[in-house]
Amino acid sequence: MFMLIRFASVIGVFALIASNWSEKPQPVSNPESRKLFETELKDMYYVENRLVIKISELEELAMGEELKKGLQEHRQETLGHAKRLEDVFAVLGLKPEEHTCKGINGILDDGDEVVKEFTGTAGLDQAIITGARKAEHYEISSYMTLVALARQMDLDPKLEILLRENLQEERISDEKLAQLFDDTSAMR
Ligand SMILES: [Fe+2]
Repeated sequence: MFMLIRFASVIGVFALIASNWSEKPQPVSNPESRKLFETELKDMYYVENRLVIKISELEELAMGEELKKGLQEHRQETLGHAKRLEDVFAVLGLKPEEHTCKGINGILDDGDEVVKEFTGTAGLDQAIITGARKAEHYEISSYMTLVALARQMDLDPKLEILLRENLQEERISDEKLAQLFDDTSAMR
């Protein structure tokens, strides 16, 4: 009997979590939210395309095979992110368009300086990963905002799904980079 009650309470907790999880906020359709969504979307389209080029440069510079391989995979994934954003534009009935993102350009310029400083030293791979993780976190926070806006607005639910897929892959990439950072240090 005790086991039965415990089982029922565990099920109850899960049901509560599931109901809160799926609870959507009241949809909003104000023009400012839509404008912010489109501005952030164009920013991210610029970011993904810019990162495809930057990652291929870093692949050339990386010393460790694991990091080279990781960056190669990440570049393929980044191409997929840009493609997914094109699908988001299509769902909205818009042509894909880039908006120059000063934030990512700053992060990449900063990363270039650090990489330059460590070129020819044993610290190069960790310097590359340091910059890559900063870019990753920038992407994660941007996708979190886009997902939240897609969720709040009364738009096609496909948008949230597509953006959530990019967000999830960015989070996984960040974890892989963190692991590579530790592995690189352990090799010394
Ligand atoms: Fe990405």
